[in-house]
Amino acid sequence: MNHPAQQSTSQLEKRPCGSSGPELSVLGLGCWQFGGGDYWGDSKQENVDRVVRTALDAGINYFDTAEMYNDGRSEEFLGKALQGTARDHVIVGTKIWPTHLHPQTLRTHCEASLQRLDMDTIDIYMIHWPCHARTYPLFVDSAVMGVTLEAGHTTVPSLEDAVGTLLTLQAEGKIRHLGVSNHAVERLEEIRHLGGEYVVNQLGYNLAWRGAEYEILPHCEKTGTGVIAYMVLLQGLLTDRYASLDEVPDWYTRTRHFRADRSPKTRHGEAGAEAQLLEALEGLRALAAECGSTLADLAVQWAVAGPGITCALIGTQSTDRLHQAVQAASRSLAPEVLKHLDALTQSLKEQLGPSLDIFEGVANDRTR
Ligand SMILES: NC(=O)c1ccc[n+]([C@@H]2O[C@H](COP(=O)([O-])OP(=O)(O)OC[C@H]3O[C@@H](n4cnc5c(N)ncnc54)[C@H](OP(=O)(O)O)[C@@H]3O)[C@@H](O)[C@H]2O)c1
Repeated sequence: MNHPAQQSTSQLEKRPCGSSGPELSVLGLGCWQFGGGDYWGDSKQENVDRVVRTALDAGINYFDTAEMYNDGRSEEFLGKALQGTARDHVIVGTKIWPTHLHPQTLRTHCEASLQRLDMDTIDIYMIHWPCHARTYPLFVDSAVMGVTLEAGHTTVPSLEDAVGTLLTLQAEGKIRHLGVSNHAVERLEEIRHLGGEYVVNQLGYNLAWRGAEYEILPHCEKTGTGVIAYMVLLQGLLTDRYASLDEVPDWYTRTRHFRADRSPKTRHGEAGAEAQLLEALEGLRALAAECGSTLADLAVQWAVAGPGITCALIGTQSTDRLHQAVQAASRSLAPEVLKHLDALTQSLKEQLGPSLDIFEGVANDRTR
């Protein structure tokens, strides 16, 4: 198959985040890695400074963090790295954990995020996962989540009260825009009906995990909700980093792609979709070679072209890999290549189904 040349654009495009949100660069910087910890390994402030500078110079204006990332160190490192950058040049998104949504705790945690970021306002403040009685115990089980809970957090917060507090914090100027993350249609509609304008839904979306295409992406488009795609590289799997699935470290084999007994850290208890994953990876690598590209580049370009995607995140602590992703995101793929990528990952999409929770089994899907 002969693929037409990729179309080049000189700069990173910016897209409006839903009908009322800020304009975000199509590639955003994922900052979970910042601050170091068990999950991603070491992180040094000088290196984070370089990565953030590289991102800014390349036209990236969206930076994504969360209070949960490395016990707040991700926010702290990002805040330090952004010192001296004009505040209106960057959009910073951070997230609050569902167990912290009791009104007083929410306020304390929002202010703690502001302090760690060393900022007066959070541009986009997202509820990290839906707060719902059915799934709440999964967040409360600290042994499972590796989360230290504060006293009193075993009772499910009232979402109505949480929304009231978020709106007060917004009126005080501590939050510019509200958003959610990992919200399936019913949870997004529930919170929208309680009040407030949610400019974004941050969702897992990549070539190997297309569950969002079934319902939530069309719904976000219909409701004018922007979408920030995360794990665009499936934590390094959609690159040439690993020659076989056996090389993938335990932390990154917890997803529903892998059989449950691969890692003691896995929670989903399912058979996985390793055969479909391997078949897809083989086809994707062959296509990348045919196009004179790389799997990582195709994965970034495909995500940026996704239906209703405002911004695709790349998580990296390497300036070289960030450069590469910026170059990729600045070029759009020919429609026939996009179609070919869809076809190569269709059976994996069908095997994994419409669940948006990559870590829990379908019965425990925390997004619904
Ligand atoms: N809302 C949520 O629930 C949620 C969940 C997960 C993630 N997120 C957000 O999304 C961001 C991105 O997701 P993620 O960091 O989990 O996964 P990701 O972006 O899919 O992958 C990150 C991994 O890929 C590696 N990598 C990047 N480019 C590479 C390349 N060209 N070749 C080989 N390896 C490469 C990085 O290593 P190096 O550092 O060595 O480059 C890092 O280990 C996070 O930082 C976070 O902000 C949100």
